[in-house]
Amino acid sequence: MSEAPTPSPATRAITAGRASSAPSLAPALWASSTWESESLDDAHRRATAARHDGFYSRYANPTVTSFEDVIAELEGAERALAFASGMGAIASTVLALCSTGSHIVAQRQLYAGTLAFLQGPCARLGIDTTFVDVNEPGAFAAAVEPGRTMVVLAETPSNPRLELADLDELGSIKGPFTVVDSTFATPLGQRPLDHGVDVSLHSATKGIAGHNDATLGVISGDEDLLDEIWSYAVLHGATPSPFDALNALRGVRTLAVRTRQQNDSARSIAVMLADHPAVTTTHYPGLSEHPQHAIASAQLLQYGTMMSFDVGLRDNAATVLDAVRVCRVATSLGGPETLLCHPATSTHASLTPDEQEATGVTSGLIRLSVGLEETVDILADLEHALSTI
Ligand SMILES: Cc1ncc(COP(=O)(O)O)c(C=O)c1O
Repeated sequence: MSEAPTPSPATRAITAGRASSAPSLAPALWASSTWESESLDDAHRRATAARHDGFYSRYANPTVTSFEDVIAELEGAERALAFASGMGAIASTVLALCSTGSHIVAQRQLYAGTLAFLQGPCARLGIDTTFVDVNEPGAFAAAVEPGRTMVVLAETPSNPRLELADLDELGSIKGPFTVVDSTFATPLGQRPLDHGVDVSLHSATKGIAGHNDATLGVISGDEDLLDEIWSYAVLHGATPSPFDALNALRGVRTLAVRTRQQNDSARSIAVMLADHPAVTTTHYPGLSEHPQHAIASAQLLQYGTMMSFDVGLRDNAATVLDAVRVCRVATSLGGPETLLCHPATSTHASLTPDEQEATGVTSGLIRLSVGLEETVDILADLEHALSTI
């Protein structure tokens, strides 16, 4: 008898994570914060088993577990663990693995919240970070201090300039735990664990939940490591809400069709921007002129739904943001609406001018998250807005 064929990730996003809701086809909402136990022995079992989802919601919750099961399957991981936000995932993971005196190697260009966390609370606790440039091959490994470096942290593609860290290079680093923020790619666009990376991390607030109606983070990796992070996370308390997990479970079912449409539009938009006289640079890994296009082609399963482009001056950026009508001006990404933001004054406003310069957050840079509107409408809106400069 032949073996049943293995369904593709797009199909698994629909079939996985149903244990706590079957036979209902829609995910069930377990809004309870606590569960009754039958005896002291039963209470002890629930209280001491790792991630028992019938004890207390800060430890685990069946709706959240269902969401984690889908993500683990998409990432090819033994387990996944959800948090109250992407930052909750980052802070809990770093603090679970580091102590005073530990060292972190991190990419220079990161989401500003991650950067602020490393430079603020981590530094205050005596956890110092060496920042490296992803454009220098071998930079992550070269900065590792054996015995002291506990975490190597990369974000690829990075926010907001779509720089890429080489996942094979990260996966080959021995000693510290390698953590990749894969938010911009989504689990369908990149599989860091297949490259030997220890932890794949997402702000599930973005493409995974996909509708701007949930704030959530998630990590995936081996069960032993995730259990260790969970033991800390229970105390850190950045616990996901079952309501958000419900929305994310509903959102992830359509991740494949959404990203397919958004990737198609992104390609056309990037080509238009790259040719436009008002645009000085377009950062999109799918363009052959992207400096790391070869890495993009080797490790990305989809070139993605995110890009950024430079219109030279802050005033030009303001003009474009004022003129759009279909695209919306807002932070965040991965939702149905095409969003534009000006990183220097929003997502990366906490950086000093020197840090903005070092990370390429120029005054004319606009970040674009491609939504689900008709491609022609997004293109027409952007072309009209650029013509007003
Ligand atoms: C790449 C990346 N990682 C992490 C985060 C933080 O996620 P959250 O806002 O869900 O805490 C963001 C937020 O924009 C992000 O862009």
